[in-house]
Amino acid sequence: MEPCVVEALLCPHCGLEYIVPQPGANSVVCVEGHSFDVARQGYLNLLTGHGTKFLPDTAAMVNARDAFLDAGHYQGLSDALARQVEAALPPTETALLVDAGTGTGYYLQQVLGFLGARSNEAVAGPEHRDSRRVDAVGLDISKFALRRAARRNPRAANIVWDLWRALPLGANTADVVLVIFAPRNASEFARILKPGGSLIVVTPLPAHLAEIAKIAGLLAIQEEKEAALVHSMASHFSLVSSHEVLCPLELSPADVGNVALMGPAGHHLDPVALGQQLAQLPELTAATAAFRISVFAPTSQA
Ligand SMILES: C[S@@+](CC[C@H](N)C(=O)[O-])C[C@H]1O[C@@H](n2cnc3c(N)ncnc32)[C@H](O)[C@@H]1O
Ligand SMILES: [Zn+2]
Repeated sequence: MEPCVVEALLCPHCGLEYIVPQPGANSVVCVEGHSFDVARQGYLNLLTGHGTKFLPDTAAMVNARDAFLDAGHYQGLSDALARQVEAALPPTETALLVDAGTGTGYYLQQVLGFLGARSNEAVAGPEHRDSRRVDAVGLDISKFALRRAARRNPRAANIVWDLWRALPLGANTADVVLVIFAPRNASEFARILKPGGSLIVVTPLPAHLAEIAKIAGLLAIQEEKEAALVHSMASHFSLVSSHEVLCPLELSPADVGNVALMGPAGHHLDPVALGQQLAQLPELTAATAAFRISVFAPTSQA
C-alpha cells in the first residue's frame, strides 16, 4: 500500500484522518490513536462490528473467477473500461481511483496497467516517466477476495469494508469511482467524488452469455434495464454516457465450468451434475458476453 493513499482514508471510529505511515508499515493509526493492522496478506481491515448479511463467495468460486478472467475472456471489457477511466481522469499530477466491490482486483489491475502504459507512451522521454500518479483504493467485504486483490494490486489500499456503510474515505477525495457488478451506494459515491468526478458502472446486459445460460441454469444473470439503473442513481447522479461492450467467446468445457461457478449460481451448483453436463459439451461453445458501461456525473454533493 502506498503511504499517500492513506491521506484519503478516514478512521471508522472517529471519522478523522490517519497519520501517514512509513512505507511498508504494518498498521495505520489515526490522529486519535485508533490503530488498524495491515493483514499479512496485504489488505487493511477497517470494518468494525458486522457488515451487512452477505453470503461470501466460496474458495471454488473465487478460483473459478480468477481462472476465467486471467484467461483473458473479458479483455474486451477491461480495455473499454480502461479507456473510459482514462477519459474521465483529470489531467492532474495525482488522481484517486476507487474500485467499489473490487473482488479479486482483476479489473483494477487491468485499468492501472493500461494507465501506466499510456502515461509512459505519452511523455517525451524516460526522465518524465511515472510523473503522473494514479492512486487506487479497492473496497470489498470479502477478505478472501481481498487477499487476491492485494497480490494483484500491491500499491493500492485494499480495504475490507461494507459498501452499505458510510465509506472510510473523505469527502471530495476520489476522481473516479468504479463499480463493476457490485453494490451501488449512490449517496456515498457522490460524497467521496470530487466535483467534476465520474462514477463508472458496469452491468451485464440481458443478452449476457445467453447461449450458455440454459446449460443447467448455470447463470443467474439479474437483468437490469438501463432506465432502472439510471433511476436508482438519480438522487445523486445523472447519466453522461453509456455504451455496450460485446465480447464474442469460444469457450472450452472448463471455461464454461468456470463461468458457471464464478457467478451467483456457484453457491448452489452440484459439482457432479455440472461435471456431467460439461462432459456433453463440444470442444468449443460459442457465446457472447454482453455488458454496459455507464458513466455518471454527480448532481449534488452530500
Ligand atoms: C460479482 S463480484 C464482482 C467483483 C469485481 N468487481 C469483478 O468484477 O471481478 C461482487 C463483489 O462485491 C462484493 N460485495 C458484495 N456485497 C458487498 C458489500 N455490502 N460491501 C462490499 N463488497 C460487497 C463481493 O464480495 C464481490 O467481491
Ligand atoms: Zn480514529
